[in-house]
Amino acid sequence: MISRRSFLHTAAAGAASLASRIPVRAQGADARIEVLTAEPIGRIAPEIYSHFVEHLGGVVYDGIWVGENSSIPNVGGIRKALVEALARTKPGAIRWPGGCYADQYDWRDGTGARAQRPKRTNFWVDSPEWPKNARRDGPQSYETNQLGTVEFARFCRLAGGQPYFAANLRSLPAQEFWRWVEYCNSPAGSTTLAALRASDGETQPLNVRYWGVGNESWGCGGNFTPEEYATEYRRYTAWVPGYGSRLMLVGSGPNGGDLNWTRGFFSKAGGSLNNMWGWALHHYSWNASAGRTTEWYAGKRDAVRFDAEQYYEILHEANLMEPLITSTWGVMGEADRRHRVKLVVDEWGAWYAPGTEPFPEALLGQQSTMRDAVLTGLTLDTFQRHADKVGMANAAQLVNCLHSLFFAHEDKFCVTPTYHVFAMYAAHQNAEAVRTMISAPQVTYSRNGTPTTLPGLAGSASIEGKKLVLTVTNQSMDQAREAEIAIRGAAMQSAKATTLAAADVHAHNSFEAPREVEPKEAALAVRGGMLVHRFPAGSVTKIEVGLG
Ligand code: AHR
Repeated sequence: MISRRSFLHTAAAGAASLASRIPVRAQGADARIEVLTAEPIGRIAPEIYSHFVEHLGGVVYDGIWVGENSSIPNVGGIRKALVEALARTKPGAIRWPGGCYADQYDWRDGTGARAQRPKRTNFWVDSPEWPKNARRDGPQSYETNQLGTVEFARFCRLAGGQPYFAANLRSLPAQEFWRWVEYCNSPAGSTTLAALRASDGETQPLNVRYWGVGNESWGCGGNFTPEEYATEYRRYTAWVPGYGSRLMLVGSGPNGGDLNWTRGFFSKAGGSLNNMWGWALHHYSWNASAGRTTEWYAGKRDAVRFDAEQYYEILHEANLMEPLITSTWGVMGEADRRHRVKLVVDEWGAWYAPGTEPFPEALLGQQSTMRDAVLTGLTLDTFQRHADKVGMANAAQLVNCLHSLFFAHEDKFCVTPTYHVFAMYAAHQNAEAVRTMISAPQVTYSRNGTPTTLPGLAGSASIEGKKLVLTVTNQSMDQAREAEIAIRGAAMQSAKATTLAAADVHAHNSFEAPREVEPKEAALAVRGGMLVHRFPAGSVTKIEVGLG
């Protein structure tokens, strides 16, 4: 039996749906949402809206990097349409170069004249998930290193995000970690590596603050035990130059809910916890088998052709994010009493069976339907309800891959429903998350014959000055839900809704039909100091309220 953990080993609730019995008054409304403005949770870090880019399939080559001499509109080799669209979502940080690829990557390969950069075998070359008709001799298999550190940092700058680099702990010595930092951040003219950076086109420091110390070190990142990883982490981070700014170091956290990994690491990390900013957590929603199997390949289902049980099972998996956050946070607090270390959910999203790749070379590429938009909304809402704990979260992965915002191939480009959710939710960034109580009938579905429930409505809210933003998902695939919405502690003056919905939750965008799923805006009437709003089936809604 292959679990996700062993696959990687060998390969190298809406809890806001508080069921308080709040009376509902509006005719037809059977749900109620109350935003408690006097109950702040924490500032919503823009880094909750972060992304992940790995040298995997069509993410980098074709997706982001098209080359300077391409006829595809580009900025210094970087696909123009992609950076422009990404910039509109206000990305926080962008994690690179992996993933599993990070622990085989030698950062020096991505420096120097591009024509002379070495070609290397990619980590994913032997993946069993390659589509049969994929060309296997391109940069997806044999990495050409055309996109290296400087090119990636430019990509981030163009898109308006901060670079977050994952350092190789499995196959490079600790010295190479701080030398990579030196290459990125040492002052202009100060070191041999600063001179190399200048000859690569960036005289001034790149000021990279976020650094991951390995990736999935329990699996493809080295098959370590938590105690062994703690020893490595201590060694790698014992001395790393800051060049005037604090480096935000992120430890390689558990596979899903493996609390022993977190407990084992935190109990052995000792003083090195003082230099740790974040603790990673990875959670994919992949098993749509409704408990029939836990086997990695057998449990996955199609991204587009799904039935009601599979639809709800993927959302059920996504709703596990909340207990994962609270349980991991609880264990972190056993050693880190003051909770100085934040959670960094630097890989999350849906992961389906192969078969819907936007083009054959897009390994792990999959379509993205309205189901994925709902998954995105409910996950971002979960992070915001825990804005005091979650310092960063990175959807996996940006383009042509798992849970992507974009598809890009040759001269074709389109955005997915997930993109629209990121664009809608950007309005929360930097605002104060406030407690939101939702009372709604639950969704019930048959899970391999057993009646199972999901939250009827789930969401989160934030306030910045006179602006309140409420985001809500309706996870039911076929029932709209009408809700009364009240804001406690502030007066509503005006409101408008942006809704992402479709007649069918299987709806998606493609190169041929790029605008099948798009958000729509409408003004809402505030009556008697409250709103009544109907949330369509399988939808994501943002309500922006002007406060008096
Ligand atoms: O996102 C694909 C892979 O999933 C990443 O490389 C790895 O970190 C995770 O297991």
